[in-house]
Amino acid sequence: EWSSQPEVTAAHPPKNAAGDGDRRPISTVLIIIAMQTEALPLVNKFHLSEDIDGSLFPKGVPWVRYHGIYKELHINLVWTGKDSILGVDSIGTISASLVSYASIQALKPDLIINAGTAGGFKAKGACVADVYLVSNVAFHDRRIPIHVGKLSTGDSLDMSPQDEVLILANDAVVKDMEGAAVAYVADLLSVPAIFIKAVTNTVDGQKSIAEEFLQNLIAVCTTLAQTVSQVVDFISGKCLSEL
Ligand code: ADE
Repeated sequence: EWSSQPEVTAAHPPKNAAGDGDRRPISTVLIIIAMQTEALPLVNKFHLSEDIDGSLFPKGVPWVRYHGIYKELHINLVWTGKDSILGVDSIGTISASLVSYASIQALKPDLIINAGTAGGFKAKGACVADVYLVSNVAFHDRRIPIHVGKLSTGDSLDMSPQDEVLILANDAVVKDMEGAAVAYVADLLSVPAIFIKAVTNTVDGQKSIAEEFLQNLIAVCTTLAQTVSQVVDFISGKCLSEL
């Protein structure tokens, strides 16, 4: 009765007009992040400054750009910001898609890094504070019911039994709330993308997902920042074809 969405591939070579985009050093990197707690350790590590000009994005959106130069790379970190009414981080696929689209248009990055926290499957070997360099990205909650009815949209931290079946059918080791959305837009606009996900909680154990997530969030975000920094060090001075 349900059909799941086809897989979104993690990275594609850029299809630019000259066709030589992957033979010059990577110059502009766009890091897309959903939570302030995930963003701040990286803002500090790369000594980024907040863009106070505000002309990059449309008026009224909460998206925040931090930027700076690190090891000759133009680093742009875009955080989706706080919802102006609810005051909470703009988590999930809607904001991730919009911010990816607007940031790619405005900044023309050579490479995107989507960094964040994720839930892990301990049955697949994921443990809290492990950081995954993602090999494949897919959506798991785009079920299309055959019968007409009310629409319910899921961008969830928890996992229903039905989600679990679909997530495991995607052969996932980790689950998040933005990656496949960023992959979709990066693919639309032919920008290669890397996904780095640090596990704050397991999703297939006995513990409360939300409790474990909140317990580990700050420490795991420090680990995430260290790994993202190692990836950026590796990227520095290289061409896309060398990654
Ligand atoms: N990010 C951190 N933990 C998560 C979970 N359990 N599901 C989705 N995204 C997450």
